[in-house]
Amino acid sequence: MADSTKTAVVTGGTSGLGEAAVMALAQAGWRVLVVGRDAQRGAEVAGKAGPRAEFLKADLFSLEDVRRLAADIKQRAPRLDLLINNAGGVFSKGPLTADGLERTFELNVAAPYVLTEALLDNLAAAKGRVVNVATGIAKGFKAPLDEVVGPKAKGGMMSYVKNKMALISLTREQQRRHGDRSVTFVALHPGIITNTRFGQTMTGFNPFTTIGPFFSKLFNIGVSLETAQQRYLKVGTEPVEPAGYYYEGTLREAPKGARDEQFSQGLWAKLQEVTAPQART
Ligand SMILES: NC(=O)c1ccc[n+]([C@@H]2O[C@H](COP(=O)([O-])OP(=O)(O)OC[C@H]3O[C@@H](n4cnc5c(N)ncnc54)[C@H](OP(=O)(O)O)[C@@H]3O)[C@@H](O)[C@H]2O)c1
Repeated sequence: MADSTKTAVVTGGTSGLGEAAVMALAQAGWRVLVVGRDAQRGAEVAGKAGPRAEFLKADLFSLEDVRRLAADIKQRAPRLDLLINNAGGVFSKGPLTADGLERTFELNVAAPYVLTEALLDNLAAAKGRVVNVATGIAKGFKAPLDEVVGPKAKGGMMSYVKNKMALISLTREQQRRHGDRSVTFVALHPGIITNTRFGQTMTGFNPFTTIGPFFSKLFNIGVSLETAQQRYLKVGTEPVEPAGYYYEGTLREAPKGARDEQFSQGLWAKLQEVTAPQART
């Protein structure tokens, strides 16, 4: 009899929310491929998740490494049921990556785009799902494309929000372009969780890691890791609305900028341009 075990890939599965998602999926009987840079944490997480979990080391700051990772996953999982593009973070203005891209854009938008496009056949074979982990963004928010990618992209918390808006826009565009292959694309805001390593990649004053926990408690806007974990499981495995934006697990309208057709077409064209092998911005 054919093995009915479902396979998931979780990027950034080596800590925080990604690790919580790995554990939830493993407990639900899934085989999980855990992606991250830190081999020691990776081995620990895969060990805790059980014999069906494997750690795949990759640095998503390098598109070459993303392509190598995709080739590896294609071999290991000809049928891929779930890809959670969870690795993400916020970075101060700083050096560009080896691909010549601003770090916030490369990790939060370009790497998920390249990985997903490379794994489409495998996802289609399983009628699979892609969950792009975004953040909570106000309904009216919009941003110009040149502040997301290109010389005006500067890093910092606002850049992070703009990039996550771009990721929601990308999710909708992917559904438009690839939905007929029976792959479903959704974006998820897991909630505010102050006890992960999120924000530690920023230099200088960082409101998220300093005053964030205080205000999160004061205004009761934070949630536990366990609550966020259930949101990953729900949006990753239960019925969803294609192209949906799941805000703390509940469907809501995507931010205005992510619904802007001109922005999404421009972003798609830019992604094709800057992620082409040997491309430099
Ligand atoms: N915490 C929150 O309140 C919150 C709210 C909304 C959205 N989010 C989003 O949720 C996701 C997970 O965040 P978190 O709070 O769990 O943060 P976290 O604890 O910092 O985890 C980030 C993960 O991403 C991985 N990662 C970072 N850079 C990488 C790279 N270059 N290559 C490969 N992996 C990389 C890290 O793995 P290694 O260090 O092992 O490489 C780590 O496993 C992110 O997309 C974040 O933007 C978080």
